[in-house]
Amino acid sequence: MKGGNKVLVVGKGGREHALAWKLSRSPQVGEVFAAPGSAGMSDVAVSLGIAENDHDALARFAAQNGVSLTVVGPEAPLVAGLADRFRREGLAIFGPCAAAAAIEGSKAFAKDLMARHGIPTARSATFSDFAAACRHVEKAETPVVIKADGLAAGKGVVIAATREEAREALHAMMLDGAQGEAGRTVVVEEFLEGEEFSFIALVNGEDVCPLELSRDHKRAFDGDLGPNTGGMGAYSPTPLIDEALAKSAFDGILQKAASALAAEGRPFAGFLYAGLIATAQGPKAIEFNARMGDPEAQALLPRLDGDLFEAISALMAGDRERAMRALAWSADAAVAVTLASKGYPLAPRVGFPIDGLDRLKRDTLVFHGATEMREGRFYATGGRALVVARRAPTIALARREVYEEIARIESEGLFWRSDIGGAAALP
Ligand code: AMP
Ligand code: GLY
Repeated sequence: MKGGNKVLVVGKGGREHALAWKLSRSPQVGEVFAAPGSAGMSDVAVSLGIAENDHDALARFAAQNGVSLTVVGPEAPLVAGLADRFRREGLAIFGPCAAAAAIEGSKAFAKDLMARHGIPTARSATFSDFAAACRHVEKAETPVVIKADGLAAGKGVVIAATREEAREALHAMMLDGAQGEAGRTVVVEEFLEGEEFSFIALVNGEDVCPLELSRDHKRAFDGDLGPNTGGMGAYSPTPLIDEALAKSAFDGILQKAASALAAEGRPFAGFLYAGLIATAQGPKAIEFNARMGDPEAQALLPRLDGDLFEAISALMAGDRERAMRALAWSADAAVAVTLASKGYPLAPRVGFPIDGLDRLKRDTLVFHGATEMREGRFYATGGRALVVARRAPTIALARREVYEEIARIESEGLFWRSDIGGAAALP
């Protein structure tokens, strides 16, 4: 017998589709709603069409329909205080309050927090004055990293190879408003060399349950070329990161960040995401996010044999041990590839059809990021239209299978990277 819990997933993208899919498989969950959701998610969730920023309507729905858990996908509603609102009304929600979500919402806050608590990160300085930023860059070593302070959907980062490029990036963000208000203040940061990986945990105050590691590919094109995107594909586990390094990242970065937020009166509850680089001096943080990763979720959740609903519920009830027991991982690997609309991330085409999804194998996972359905046919509505994932005993196998499956999808308007999982696909 399925349990009768009702779960609400806030969001409409591929990450939310993956969360809804995994939550719907819990024996304790009877029904999953998504807000706004999308037609592509109808295999696992009832889409409500309520906008992510309509806090009134979301809270009303949860209260009136006996929703026992709300899980928030994207950062914007968290930074805008959705979780504060739910908690004030006594509604159970897995997502941080606005004060804790600032770890993602303001890079300057995250940097200061790391400095105050000795969390290893790239050296950096924050500027709201263009001339001062330019003077700083004149003396900086290259490459140098320029980041918009506020939320920019993963697109507010420029890795400048020369000081000239750095000045141009500063000009674009600070004077021309290329990232809107988010870029009026910038963080200028040392470039870290090493393998990048994503470390995500379930957090409730000082209780931290690590998920397995994953690796995202942020650049648009093969070989890590082209502009930064929200993420072009991910794989898990990460054979290039050894256990000692993972442990030091857990103790010195994730646990420390959760404890730091709690100590400063901003206890975090939700998915805490650390973007890390394995440098010669150990792991260092390049960013924190207050949510699950996208497309990390689509590579991680297929490997979770345990019960996500049980893990979140146990952690929220203060039982970390029970939460850890619910997080049982398969030894299998998973590879998730983003199929993006041509022109993404700058100017994605929209409105073209995507066919052939019904021809894929039953155990191939298709997560809809930006599609709509008209007369039984899917059409792209935005940049990261789909993420296709396969689970298999090795990364190499999962990678081969996922690309075989993608080849069956028919669409003129999509592009994808062909090297997701490549570096780690050991023979
Ligand atoms: P972020 O939005 O901060 O995750 O940055 C986007 C991407 O830029 C990251 O995934 C990294 O690939 C790269 N990046 C950001 N900061 C640094 C840094 N300090 N050193 C090297 N690469 C970086
Ligand atoms: N895949 C990167 C992110 O979710 O921020």
